[in-house]
Amino acid sequence: MKVLSVVGARPQFVKEFAVTRALRDDHEEVLLHTGQHYDAEMSAVFFDELGIPEPDYQLGVGSDTHGRQTADCVVGIEEVIEAEEPDAVLVYGDTNSTLGAAIAASKSSADLVHVESGLRSYNREMPEEVNRVLTDHAADVLFAPSERAAETLQGEGLPDERIHVVGDVQYDAILAAREHARDASTILDDLALPPGEFVLATVHRPRNTDDPDRLTAILDALADAEREVVVPVHPRTEQRLQDLGLRSEYAAELRLVDPVGYLDFVRLLDAAARVATDSGGVQKEAFFLDTFCLTLREETEWVETVECGWNALVDADPDRIATGLTAPKPDGSKPSLYGDGTAATRIVDVLEDGPTPERVEPSP
Ligand code: UD1
Ligand code: UDP
Repeated sequence: MKVLSVVGARPQFVKEFAVTRALRDDHEEVLLHTGQHYDAEMSAVFFDELGIPEPDYQLGVGSDTHGRQTADCVVGIEEVIEAEEPDAVLVYGDTNSTLGAAIAASKSSADLVHVESGLRSYNREMPEEVNRVLTDHAADVLFAPSERAAETLQGEGLPDERIHVVGDVQYDAILAAREHARDASTILDDLALPPGEFVLATVHRPRNTDDPDRLTAILDALADAEREVVVPVHPRTEQRLQDLGLRSEYAAELRLVDPVGYLDFVRLLDAAARVATDSGGVQKEAFFLDTFCLTLREETEWVETVECGWNALVDADPDRIATGLTAPKPDGSKPSLYGDGTAATRIVDVLEDGPTPERVEPSP
């Protein structure tokens, strides 16, 4: 089997880290990096420290409007599909790189395979929600991280034969990285952060970064925390802080640092008293690492983490953020929500069984 894997943005490198090892045991993988993320700390660091193979193709699409960024992905990925003739094109998550690959693959004879399928925020103002829905409905094989995600897909009329509940590949990644991060990362010493005594925060959603009222409400609430707050700043957020002339003001109250590599981030998340985030992946990773999460949004795709008490939706509301920062962690046992850490091998096993039976080859 020959698989073309498409990555482009930070969370996809982490997911690819989990899948590539299982895939390359017995199969040929061609790796394509769209170049949606390109700064060293948003891209190269993940390949270097996680041993992700060097991409075979680099499209270099860079930053642009949604339409142009997605279109550049479609054109570049189509050319690679034509040249490589893979059996399957594997895409992760919900970025513009995901959608670009989905459009290109769904019009080729390769199967389109969507990892992290069936997630919904039911907020169509999020570009990711549109990307998810379109990708799921174009895909031939849908890998859902949970039973609920599978039910969502069934509820949208997608055929059962396409849907496979395999668990979450980011759980696989965390299991592979947590101990290594404890040994290898020096970030706590570097930043002089006492384990269990600081708050970790990440903010990068346009809804939060592009609305100055929301951005300042969140950062002010974090600055009021009793504990030190460390914020690895996403480049989108860095740009907004600079545009607003607020960077130095917040740097006096919060530990603003550049984005960190995965091992350092896992170490920070593992050792943090709380995490406040609008990231999708970080909500899950917090759950896996037993760190109580405050989600700086009105809704989430990862609803199970909220229902079991390990995640609280606090929006950009200062009072709810303050309450969440001091609320006790949930007690009692934690449910197993997103599989058993073997999602990647399950994915490969399903793909080995071949194309989905209902697949109809497109005419040339
Ligand atoms: C993208 C994804 C989002 C995902 C996030 C992960 C879409 C629509 N959004 O959002 O789902 O959660 O990645 O981090 O696909 N920039 C740099 N250097 C880089 C990359 C970006 O400076 O290496 C800056 C540019 O100014 C760019 C901005 O960040 O315009 C936003 O980057 P972009 O990839 O468009 O969206 P993200 O906010 O990163
Ligand atoms: N991450 C990282 N360094 C950081 C922030 C995040 O390595 O400074 C990792 C994090 O562990 C997770 C992924 O990047 O695996 C999440 O990416 P992001 O929050 O940018 O995207 P989302 O998951 O919201 O799409």
